[in-house]
Amino acid sequence: MFTLDHRDTRSCLFKRANQQLRISICSTQLIRVSLSNDQPLPRRSWAVNRADDAWEPVEWSIAQNSAITTLETADLQVNVAHADGRITFTNRQQQAFFSDVGPATYNADGWLVTKQIYNSEHFYGFGERTGWLEKTGQHFLNWTLDPEPHHGPRIDNMYATMPVFMGLQPNLCYGVFFNTSFRSSVDVGATDAALLSLKTQGPDLDYYLVLGATPADITATWRELLGAMPLPAYWTLGYHQSRWGYDSSSTMRAIADELRARNIPCDAIHFDIDYMDGYRVFTWHPERFAQPAQLVQDLAQDGFNVVTIIDPGFKTDPDYAVFAEGLANDYFIKRADGSLFSGYVWPDDSAFADFTRADVRAWWGNLHKTLVDAGVRGIWDDMNEPTVFDRPFSEGGGNGGTIDLNAPQGAADERTTHAEVHNLYGLLMAQATYEGLRQLRPNERPFVLTRSGFAGLSRWATLWTGDNSALWEHLEMTLPQICNLGLSGIPFVGVDIGGFFGNASSELWARWVQVGAFLPFCRGHSCSGTRPAEPWAFGERTEAIARAYLSLRYRLLPYLYTLFYQASTTGAPIIRPLVYEYPADVATHALHDQVLCGSQLMLAPIVRPGAEYRSVYLPAGEWYDWWTGERITGAQHILVHAPLERLPLYVRGGAILTLGPVLNYTGEAPLDPLTLDVYPSGTSEWTLYEDDGISFEYEQGLSATTHFSCIETAQSINFVIAARQGSWQPAPRTIVVNLHSLPPKAVLLDEQPIECVHADGAITVSFVDDGLTHTLEAKL
Ligand code: GLC
Repeated sequence: MFTLDHRDTRSCLFKRANQQLRISICSTQLIRVSLSNDQPLPRRSWAVNRADDAWEPVEWSIAQNSAITTLETADLQVNVAHADGRITFTNRQQQAFFSDVGPATYNADGWLVTKQIYNSEHFYGFGERTGWLEKTGQHFLNWTLDPEPHHGPRIDNMYATMPVFMGLQPNLCYGVFFNTSFRSSVDVGATDAALLSLKTQGPDLDYYLVLGATPADITATWRELLGAMPLPAYWTLGYHQSRWGYDSSSTMRAIADELRARNIPCDAIHFDIDYMDGYRVFTWHPERFAQPAQLVQDLAQDGFNVVTIIDPGFKTDPDYAVFAEGLANDYFIKRADGSLFSGYVWPDDSAFADFTRADVRAWWGNLHKTLVDAGVRGIWDDMNEPTVFDRPFSEGGGNGGTIDLNAPQGAADERTTHAEVHNLYGLLMAQATYEGLRQLRPNERPFVLTRSGFAGLSRWATLWTGDNSALWEHLEMTLPQICNLGLSGIPFVGVDIGGFFGNASSELWARWVQVGAFLPFCRGHSCSGTRPAEPWAFGERTEAIARAYLSLRYRLLPYLYTLFYQASTTGAPIIRPLVYEYPADVATHALHDQVLCGSQLMLAPIVRPGAEYRSVYLPAGEWYDWWTGERITGAQHILVHAPLERLPLYVRGGAILTLGPVLNYTGEAPLDPLTLDVYPSGTSEWTLYEDDGISFEYEQGLSATTHFSCIETAQSINFVIAARQGSWQPAPRTIVVNLHSLPPKAVLLDEQPIECVHADGAITVSFVDDGLTHTLEAKL
């Protein structure tokens, strides 16, 4: 029998024999449930960025009868059954969701609680997974590891773990953050179609539940609860060229030269493990990379930013200064018996830093000084699940294991074992790297790319989905994988374009770069020993496709950057499934092979060999075909012809897209002209965000926004550019407006007739951007 022990302004604590149950009201929509045996509650949270008492207090009421206590906020009700602590949730319309079907139980395996799955309920998120978009009927283990190299649909857990998911019912959407870093799992109707269960090996059962009207409400809450993604440096949105096997300065220079000679836009070159001296982290190979600073500087002169890989394992070589320093200061993880823990990674026997300790994170961060001093601009954290091979790499070692689960970790006042913090290793490594870079270059936005991570990772790093393969199935999986990560609070993410393992055909690579050009993180990468996989390695036709689509990405960067701004300020994913924007439309609920890039663009790629046609679903509203300008009414499926050069791409009616010039790299020229591609449909608006793209001065207000609006009637189209807001000044530029419209009778700029061209279905007008309000009117 649970009894209400006490309540304060934010929570209720129930007790029975040896158990405590706390229900915390973070907001009218966000509830935290924590249940434990004899533990003061709630316990520490590793990934939560906002303590329960840091939320604005809200009004809520409590009512009790002998059987039930009901807590009620403006948005929801929580009912706690006194007999067994069973919890049910309802919205204000009494629609139930995520309600217990029995009491939570605790045994030697940890905690288990089972919830009802309701009719027509759908599930999304669960972090980094293979398979399709909708996740009903599956089991998800939350445990970071370097998975088998196949990434098939039956694979469960992968490199990163986000115990975050979303349930969608008619008229109701909710999100769950299962707040446990221990090995845990979510069974979504896999064992019993009507039941969802949460299990954790941790000492308490702790979850946050948020109710929303739409998926956007849920991602907004993840941003508040788990932390916001800071704005990335503008160059990181460009194309990144990478390969395991670029093993000398001359190779790096040759790749850079080739990219420029062939006009393949590119902003970054990644240095994989080949640059190090015997895979010792924070070293350079003395012969093959003899003058790193010179190399990095020369590349920078051509507009390339260098990103170097860093693995967490330190070669246990007493003559290696970095290892000796870590050992002397006791920075490495030890075994339960007090001896140094070591395991095999690239440099063979290696020790691992304990990133749960602030002093170790500070040391690690500062180790990046040698790289930063050499001009390196970004860091790529790999193998941080953490992965330990079963045999030395020099003897062909492969995936094996990880650090001993009983290895002690953490500072003296929060000592724990690897079992609790294993899933956090990548997250904390990324944090240490980010903070180090920030310290070393205080006014430059750090770029950290990571393979492993946990919920809340976006605060520190960009994620890529690890070692995929050059398979059509993996191209197809890319979209749902990125979408579910976005719904799990990870907007800045990408995949290895073309596939890491194996050899892509020209056709596959062409189709892949069409998709890759729209991903938040856009990098071509491949495994050593595979055939060359640069954009020109597949013949002229594929190279031309790569050039065209990467150039299109660069043209769209002003739009993309605004999407990053939205992700940073609202939590909205950049690549979103259609269900995110159209949750009430059942046709979107399982649609995995079409996605929105922001709210305004929809891509429906070809993901099958030899296919030139596919069906495309256009949700209700109006759409424009990007290529032909054809205006199409939605709420229908259409059959689309998409020869190899063509990615089916649609613009949402009402869109006001902002485009820049074609560039070889982001810093090559200022944003001039700024093209506004206006696709009228009723009333619509858009706000462009701009800043210097590199510093943190935007935090002090050095940024600019420009609001655009468009009203279309039968007689006219009225397009208004409002005066620029904010103190950041763009470079002088021309504005080009392309108003997609039938030929007009007259066009007026600020009520004066203006010269214009009508071609390809659009009226084009240009004028100098003076930052002031302008109205363009097309009389029809
Ligand atoms: C891992 C990474 C891969 C990298 C390789 C060598 O497999 O996932 O991207 O190329 O290690 O560093």
